[in-house]
Amino acid sequence: MGSGIAQVTSLGGSDVTLIDTDEGALDRALAAIRSSLDRFVAKEKTTPEAADAALARIAVSTDLKAAAGADIAVEAVFERLPVKQEVFRQLSAIVAPETVLATNTSAIPITEIAAAATHPERVVGTHFFSPVPMMKLCELVRGLHTSDEALATARSFAEAAGKTCVVVNRDVAGFATTRLICALVNEAARLVEDGVISAEDLDTACRLGFGHPMGPLATADLTGIDVITHATENIYEDTADPQFFPPALLRRMVASGAIGRKSGKGFYDYAELSTGLWISAGSMWRGRVPAPARRRWSR
Ligand SMILES: NC(=O)c1ccc[n+]([C@@H]2O[C@H](COP(=O)([O-])OP(=O)(O)OC[C@H]3O[C@@H](n4cnc5c(N)ncnc54)[C@H](O)[C@@H]3O)[C@@H](O)[C@H]2O)c1
Repeated sequence: MGSGIAQVTSLGGSDVTLIDTDEGALDRALAAIRSSLDRFVAKEKTTPEAADAALARIAVSTDLKAAAGADIAVEAVFERLPVKQEVFRQLSAIVAPETVLATNTSAIPITEIAAAATHPERVVGTHFFSPVPMMKLCELVRGLHTSDEALATARSFAEAAGKTCVVVNRDVAGFATTRLICALVNEAARLVEDGVISAEDLDTACRLGFGHPMGPLATADLTGIDVITHATENIYEDTADPQFFPPALLRRMVASGAIGRKSGKGFYDYAELSTGLWISAGSMWRGRVPAPARRRWSR
């Protein structure tokens, strides 16, 4: 996500510094940006000159101090509250007090992340969508203390990167879009695990019946079953709403490592796409497993 956000920001004309603690991730990010820009040029969505200029505006660093002097810092590290809070704690000591601190979290309440920052009124959610260069939406999220100025800066930032913004006015877990996709994927997984409908037919129903470009289960495979399961767990922990308790099928898929495209298997088989990299389910499943909930139909 960080590389995608860097790409669209630099294409919009701004200088960007992409920071990651893992040097290999920075190399992969630059390669991904180069190849994405090449595709944009091939499809005549941008010129070779603009693509070269965008790439030249992106610097990389493994040192967070490189954020000093930024007008806005956008955090897109792992979806773990302590990791995000540590970044905000360190950033607060590095950037100016008026620098807007944005987070790309998909489901963690903005206010909880902002609690680690000085001047929490400058913290705002900028939830971009994957793949960032293709997806037009940025969901802006107000934390409890987010100022109108911080929200306006975040909007200008996202619009300069070619995005259309929607505003979530209250800091609810999962905001608007993650709540919607989790509710849809959970219900779809329950229908499949109950033998009501096959994964293929469920996705076909959503594509042809609702006009969705992709069915929810294919979307879950693309996003990562582990990512969706973790997000719905976060929402469940915050709301105690049983519809967000992850269905057994999703939990078993995570436990077995069948976490979607990146593992070669999810609701669909991607053997030919597999990179051979098998992501350990244990390392992805650190969320506290909540107490069993009633099934939604028993409410
Ligand atoms: N992948 C998606 O589809 C998607 C969509 C919307 C939002 N998000 C959110 O965006 C964020 C990032 O997601 P991702 O899929 O790009 O994750 P990722 O695991 O691919 O990338 C996270 C990167 O953060 C780096 N990192 C970890 N700790 C760091 C630190 N302290 N300082 C600097 N770098 C650090 C890691 O090395 C890694 O390269 C998460 O909050 C996720 O929920 C993801």
